[in-house]
Amino acid sequence: MSEAASTSTETGQAGAIEPRIVAFVCNWCTYTGADLAGTSRIQMAPNVRVIRLPCTGRIDPVFIIKAFERGADGVIVSGCHPGDCHYLAGNYHARRRFTVFREIMSFLGIDQRRITFSWVSASEGRKWGDVVNEAVARVRALGPFVGYRSLVEKPNAGA
Ligand code: FES
Repeated sequence: MSEAASTSTETGQAGAIEPRIVAFVCNWCTYTGADLAGTSRIQMAPNVRVIRLPCTGRIDPVFIIKAFERGADGVIVSGCHPGDCHYLAGNYHARRRFTVFREIMSFLGIDQRRITFSWVSASEGRKWGDVVNEAVARVRALGPFVGYRSLVEKPNAGA
């Protein structure tokens, strides 16, 4: 790594690196919508790694914290629109859980602008492209998320 890149990564300067974004998506709606975006050749930033889960109700908020610990600069959580969950109420549970969990994440020092929640159906490939591009632009403007990682890494530094 060059000295300039190293310095900018350590200081967290905006725009210094390409952001790494992890997307936790439900299998039935958003994953299919993301697939549609790909097959429709919708232009999207290549910064997102998709992790498919059965339902947003299965997305434990700890997954988000772990993603940041492991190097993500941003996270997207997306599933079926309210009323469309294939398990009936999984997305309602997820919405309630994340409403509460937002405050805990803020307390942990996680900037809420790094987390994007959205509903994307199987037919909304274009919307998925918009969600991805907007999240990448927002996180790129914030810069790399070194603050949280360094907090997590310090306890092990002397081990
Ligand atoms: Fe998509 Fe539940 S199956 S949110």
